[in-house]
Amino acid sequence: MAQSALPRRPAVLVTGAGGQLGRYLMSCLADAGYPVTGTGAHEGDSVDRVLDITDPEQVSNVVSNVRPDVVIHAAAYTDVDGCERDPAHANLVNGDGAANIARAARDAGAWALAVGTDFVFPGDGGAPYGEDDAPAPISVYGSSKLAGERAVLATDPSFAVARTAWVFGGAGKHFPRTVLNVLKSRGGMEVVDDETGSPTFAGDLAAALVALIDQRPSGILHLTNGGHVSRFGLARAVAEAAGLDPALVQPTTTADFLARYPLPAKRPANSTLANNRAAALGVTLRPWQDAVRDYVPRLAAEVTA
Ligand SMILES: NC(=O)c1ccc[n+]([C@@H]2O[C@H](COP(=O)([O-])OP(=O)(O)OC[C@H]3O[C@@H](n4cnc5c(N)ncnc54)[C@H](OP(=O)(O)O)[C@@H]3O)[C@@H](O)[C@H]2O)c1
Repeated sequence: MAQSALPRRPAVLVTGAGGQLGRYLMSCLADAGYPVTGTGAHEGDSVDRVLDITDPEQVSNVVSNVRPDVVIHAAAYTDVDGCERDPAHANLVNGDGAANIARAARDAGAWALAVGTDFVFPGDGGAPYGEDDAPAPISVYGSSKLAGERAVLATDPSFAVARTAWVFGGAGKHFPRTVLNVLKSRGGMEVVDDETGSPTFAGDLAAALVALIDQRPSGILHLTNGGHVSRFGLARAVAEAAGLDPALVQPTTTADFLARYPLPAKRPANSTLANNRAAALGVTLRPWQDAVRDYVPRLAAEVTA
């Protein structure tokens, strides 16, 4: 009997598959029926192939061997203060690494979708930033990621960069986990009220990236949960969603915080992103408050266990 001809899902290769976003991407793609290969810097959960994106020959060999239709590039050196201390490594991973992935994707005939950051913007006015606003990073992380997104788009203008922000979710280190850990260990905390952005649940971001595969947009898109909030406001929402008293979180200023805990990298004061292009393509993420209320109770059960 003839088999019914179901359309074949494009094969996807994910870089950074063991990272915060990468893990959600791997399960989201598998659940949606995409043949998917996860690559990561080290062996581990979600990583099918070890791939150091800074090694052009290794990148070329792995990508030509896997022969993906789509490459989602989620690997990066994401330690913002680490980037400031080691600019050469930041540029190697976030700039050259992205260029290596883009070249290998182009040579394999694949479409590449790279993940970018709100830190390409200075945050000193002009937010919410749209896709066409001029970037002007104030940190090494931001400038290295900007070099990466420019390399990706210069390699093939049909490629896309989806900038996101304030990503949280999953097993690793992220802001809501830090808030609950500190509240558990110290019983209270001060959080800056003059740094504003667009919190983004990694599971929602993964689903939005997967939703873009069919449309294959080119150029820059912004993808964050809806709305914006200060770090202080987010910390209070996290406390509340965890069933704790939000008043355990008190506001402070960046100047006061840095006087006590100096950090090498500057953060944008307001890097809220406007998701104009994704919305026009029918891809929208729920408001950040809904994502926090949905995710944080699960996180709280883990942190307080
Ligand atoms: N986290 C945020 O708030 C945020 C905000 C805006 C944009 N983004 C962007 O979103 C994307 C995903 O970030 P994330 O939050 O999932 O970060 P993450 O948890 O740090 O994951 C990044 C992954 O990249 C891997 N990696 C680092 N160097 C590599 C190399 N040389 N070769 C191969 N893999 C390497 C890391 O592996 P190891 O850990 O094993 O080194 C890690 O698994 C990145 O492009 C990031 O710039 C993140």
